[in-house]
Amino acid sequence: MAKATSGAAGLRLLLLLPLLGEAPLGLYFSRDAYWEKLYVDQPAGTPLLYVHALRDAPEEVPSFRLGPHLYGAYRTRLHENNWIRIQEDTGLLYLNQSLDRGSWEKLSIHNGGFPLLTVYLQVFLLPMSLREGECQWPGCARVYFSFINASFPACSSLKARELCFPETGLSFRIRENRPPGTFHQFRLLPVQFLCPNISVTYRLLEGEALPFRCAPDSLEVSTRRALDREQREKYELVARCTVRAGAREEAVMVPFPVTVYDEDDSPPTCPGGVDTASAEVEFKRKEGTVVATLRVFDADVVPASGELVRRYTSTLLPGDAWAQQTFRVEHWPNETLAQANGSFVRATVHDYRLVLNRSLPISESRALQLAVLVNDSDFQGPGPGVLLLHFNVSVLPVSLRLPGAYAFSVSRRARRFAQIGRVCVENCLADLAGDAVPGRDEARPPGLGCQKHPGCR
Ligand SMILES: *[C@@H]1O[C@H](CO)[C@@H](O)[C@H](O)[C@H]1NC(C)=O
Ligand SMILES: *[C@@H]1O[C@H](CO)[C@@H](O)[C@H](O)[C@H]1NC(C)=O
Ligand SMILES: *[C@@H]1O[C@H](CO)[C@@H](O)[C@H](O)[C@H]1NC(C)=O
Ligand SMILES: *[C@@H]1O[C@H](CO)[C@@H](O)[C@H](O)[C@H]1NC(C)=O
Ligand SMILES: *[C@@H]1O[C@H](CO)[C@@H](O)[C@H](O)[C@H]1NC(C)=O
Ligand SMILES: *[C@@H]1O[C@H](CO)[C@@H](O)[C@H](O)[C@H]1NC(C)=O
Ligand SMILES: *[C@@H]1O[C@H](CO)[C@@H](O)[C@H](O)[C@H]1NC(C)=O
Ligand SMILES: *[C@@H]1O[C@H](CO)[C@@H](O)[C@H](O)[C@H]1NC(C)=O
Repeated sequence: MAKATSGAAGLRLLLLLPLLGEAPLGLYFSRDAYWEKLYVDQPAGTPLLYVHALRDAPEEVPSFRLGPHLYGAYRTRLHENNWIRIQEDTGLLYLNQSLDRGSWEKLSIHNGGFPLLTVYLQVFLLPMSLREGECQWPGCARVYFSFINASFPACSSLKARELCFPETGLSFRIRENRPPGTFHQFRLLPVQFLCPNISVTYRLLEGEALPFRCAPDSLEVSTRRALDREQREKYELVARCTVRAGAREEAVMVPFPVTVYDEDDSPPTCPGGVDTASAEVEFKRKEGTVVATLRVFDADVVPASGELVRRYTSTLLPGDAWAQQTFRVEHWPNETLAQANGSFVRATVHDYRLVLNRSLPISESRALQLAVLVNDSDFQGPGPGVLLLHFNVSVLPVSLRLPGAYAFSVSRRARRFAQIGRVCVENCLADLAGDAVPGRDEARPPGLGCQKHPGCR
């Protein structure tokens, strides 16, 4: 059975997709990076931030581990981490030991004497990746600390924005079809710890109408149910923070986008139930001619090109030798938009083209049914991930009737066969392309066709 070839042109768009791809299933971080500030002499015991893991299966229980080193710019290993610890069950990072000016200078020296701006730690989810260097989302996240070479500022000098949100934007990635879970905690813990008299409250605007919830007491944000990417793939939420200190009240709003990650949970289907096409081969019979196309729709997005051929196979049936030599199937995938619950989400169309794999002699005549087995091999059900496409193929012979006697002038040096430059075919409506004389390739006129030619009437 012949494997179909795959067209490349439609794939470029698909590379943009944020797919989990081959990532092993299991617990995962809802972000690949977290940010917080670190000040000189911040007291031991200061809570810094929470990292959150989401579950793939209801029974999973997260356990967090910190990688043993602090890294500086250019991912260079700076020093053993003697300062920051994590609560393995809750994901709370805290200062176990104050970072005094002495340690600060030491880290700066390890950083080649350059001013220290940012360091990071790696947080792993158990089971931990074997090599420390391999911190890859979704099983590992980096926690970045901006180093401020000063002590924690007076609470009254902090601006509302600094009291509410980290410097960098918030954004989250959540897998579809997974159990609901907590993926964020709003409070800036060092601020809350060091400035207890400033009241900071949060709300997730519109979250309640959508499948998100912000608990008023803990300020934890959770999904209320499993998300479905085929219904909606991006939630552009807005977080609102209100700061009250004495008589002063101020509000800050920031975007809070959530992207839903796809999995292969939709089978291929034929739009409108059309799974059969008729294909007539008559005047156009040259190798490469597309004789029919059938379209397959899949509500899932498709991963980057390399995986596509492995995941989405198409096989020409049956094994008839003539058919196998004469036809091939080309697979042309492309991204499309599908209407879903009032908005559009990305989906995929796969065009399967039945193509002549060789030029057919004009005398060739036959009718046959070909089938193409399309297999979305990662689809886990329910139901089959396979589809049969049918092509009713008729190969019609072309008869050439030349008007009366016809003389070709042929070079003396021509031997048994000579090449004819151009033949005009009477009453022919379509281009004729193929072998003029069966089995005699030497006699194939290159320009054989029906274009109106000055030499023709
Ligand atoms: C893919 O789809 C886009 C938009 O519908 C279209 O413009 C483009 O020609 C298609 N590409 C292929 C290779 O079919
Ligand atoms: C820091 O860690 C040490 C031992 O690892 C522990 O004895 C100490 O209580 C910790 N300090 C804080 C502030 O958590
Ligand atoms: C930190 O600031 C102090 C003065 O406040 C300065 O002497 C020192 O060089 C700075 N250290 C670094 C690493 O920038
Ligand atoms: C918070 O307020 C209380 C009483 O109003 C006061 O005693 C305390 O010093 C204040 N703490 C800070 C860190 O400002
Ligand atoms: C294809 O052939 C089958 C069986 O001969 C027939 O039932 C069907 O109507 C044909 N379909 C098309 C689109 O020609
Ligand atoms: C098409 O033709 C090529 C060479 O002409 C051959 O190798 C191949 O097996 C044929 N069939 C398909 C389906 O590509
Ligand atoms: C579809 O949209 C309606 C109204 O906007 C909403 O109530 C419902 O939850 C949405 N369904 C899904 C699956 O997102
Ligand atoms: C589809 O592909 C899967 C995975 O490669 C395979 O297990 C299954 O047998 C295939 N189905 C058919 C009908 O060929």
